[in-house]
Amino acid sequence: MIKLISANWKMNLTPSQTESYLERFLPLVKDVTDREVLLCPPFPSLCVAQRMLEGSNVRLGAQNCFYEKKGAFTGEVSIDMLKELGVFYVIVGHSERRWIFGESDELINKKLTACIETGLRPILCVGERIEEREAGLTLKVVETQLRIALSGLEAYTDSIDIAYEPVWAIGTGNPATPEDAQFVHAFIKDLLSQINPERKGNTRILYGGSVNPSNAGQFMSMGDVDGLLVGSSSLDPDSFAHIVKSF
Ligand code: 13P
Repeated sequence: MIKLISANWKMNLTPSQTESYLERFLPLVKDVTDREVLLCPPFPSLCVAQRMLEGSNVRLGAQNCFYEKKGAFTGEVSIDMLKELGVFYVIVGHSERRWIFGESDELINKKLTACIETGLRPILCVGERIEEREAGLTLKVVETQLRIALSGLEAYTDSIDIAYEPVWAIGTGNPATPEDAQFVHAFIKDLLSQINPERKGNTRILYGGSVNPSNAGQFMSMGDVDGLLVGSSSLDPDSFAHIVKSF
């Protein structure tokens, strides 16, 4: 299974900044063929990114989508719109969507269903908050999030990737330990095997939360860490290229 190293730029980098970023970044990673590299810019930067990524070894992803095909949904973006822009992956259920914008597990399930129906590969984010971790509820929270998100999609677990992003580790400079990540990733894989006994094991489990060029290699040395989802450290092309090549 090829590893997936992804950048989530969140609400950063305008279209012109995206252009400058890619002019610097693409030559740095042009020889990388043994892992998949993914950039998820904000919507307004997708067009320029699509143009610049054409023919490159870097794939394009989006940070969100809506589940309806079209219509009166002011401010939302459909999967068909994203696909037309060359988008291959979409992040679904990021904790910032859950906790700032009130996305529920049920809404996330609808988005995942729409992605699977239309062939856009979702990266489903799960992870516990600090108070849940301190109460010893990490595995329970992750299990609940996964079971609801995958409800009705049990046969399709090979068509998605999952990012384990503990909320307390995001943007704090305080990552999980690689061992903690490994523990939760192994749990997620066991759970997937229960949910879909037929699964072929194509679901990659990414770690996200304060990944940087110094710790990326340690996470990637864990047996069940199949990739990374990087926020702040992906905003600098040198730093993200370093992460891409860190293992
Ligand atoms: P940071 O790398 O800034 O902690 O963000 C992680 C994240 O939320 C990626 O989706």
